[in-house]
Amino acid sequence: MASVRTINLSSPWLDEREEELVADVLRSGRLSLGPTIDRFEEAFAEVVGAPYAAAVSSGTAGLHLLCVVAGVGPGDEVITSPYSFVASANCAVYEGATPVFADIDPKTLNLSPAAVEAAITERTRAVVAVDIYGYPCELDELRALCEAHGIALIDDACEALGARYKGATVGSHGPSAVFAFYPNKQMTTGEGGMITTHSEREWRLLRSLRNQGRADSGGWLEHARLGFNYRLDDIGAAIGLGQLEKLDAILEARATVAARYGKLLADIPELDLPCADDTDHERSWFVYVVTLAEGVDREAVIALLTERGVQSARYLPCIHLQAYMQERFGYRVGLCPVAESVASRTLAIPFHARLAEDDQAYVADALRDALVRRAP
Ligand SMILES: Cc1ncc(COP(=O)(O)O)c(C=O)c1O
Repeated sequence: MASVRTINLSSPWLDEREEELVADVLRSGRLSLGPTIDRFEEAFAEVVGAPYAAAVSSGTAGLHLLCVVAGVGPGDEVITSPYSFVASANCAVYEGATPVFADIDPKTLNLSPAAVEAAITERTRAVVAVDIYGYPCELDELRALCEAHGIALIDDACEALGARYKGATVGSHGPSAVFAFYPNKQMTTGEGGMITTHSEREWRLLRSLRNQGRADSGGWLEHARLGFNYRLDDIGAAIGLGQLEKLDAILEARATVAARYGKLLADIPELDLPCADDTDHERSWFVYVVTLAEGVDREAVIALLTERGVQSARYLPCIHLQAYMQERFGYRVGLCPVAESVASRTLAIPFHARLAEDDQAYVADALRDALVRRAP
């Protein structure tokens, strides 16, 4: 009987440095909108290569605020990827708009620019492009399309901190981008997110919108506009500062773990591995998602992995097929065939910066074994 261990899907890399920075904030008594937020924003903007960064309470909050800034409202359509986390579409729904799903490229799993072009109508107000699993989307093609049609482009880079497109960091190119810091992400603040922008005017507006619409000048109970409580607190910002200090090491370790999986899993015929980098696209490793061959029983594979203590997850279900999307917008199977096929076959396996080599070998062995038993 094979040995059993427990191997978690993800795990943040936190140590004494974050504890120290959090303790400093606690001792300072400035728990919200204190100086640590400013330091975190400045350091983050520099890492990404964008002139301005505004910290928010989550990636979802950041996407919502960029929809507000883009003027998304009732009657508008916002195009996004069906193969993403629900927030990529919900940000438009919050403002009363209709999410429109364009199909994805089967190799990169990112939005197909041709499908986006075909989905543009007179009502399209914005495109929310996603860098899925940390692989940069076709930014230049999407930007050209959006410019030609006078629509906003929002980069949902929640999974892509540190990724590079055409040699430059995602977030440095221009479209405003949103990053997320949930604990499974490349770096964490517990809950939290960051918007990067190249416009000072937009940055000031974002800081007002996240803070209940307060203006730069004016009192705490004066509100220049309708805003939200989407503030990140200083404790989260302190954790974020500690994470930024070791971000290079985190990203390098994640890339090493991914490369090891690449070798361990290369010869399994029932698996497609994440697509490789090329000159224009350099992935920042967020999760390790394999695609099972057609006909493999994914549920049985998951059950066999679970028996061996290996966590896995059905990353990602199609957004348009979520119950509330079907109910509200009438979407059905067949709308985005590529995304639907991929979504029924993809599986995230344990992945984080400090996943031990022998744990990876164990995961690979468990997966190989499950596939031998459950291939068609
Ligand atoms: C692609 C994508 N967009 C948006 C989000 C939302 O981020 P958060 O969970 O911080 O709201 C996530 C996080 O899971 C994500 O992966």
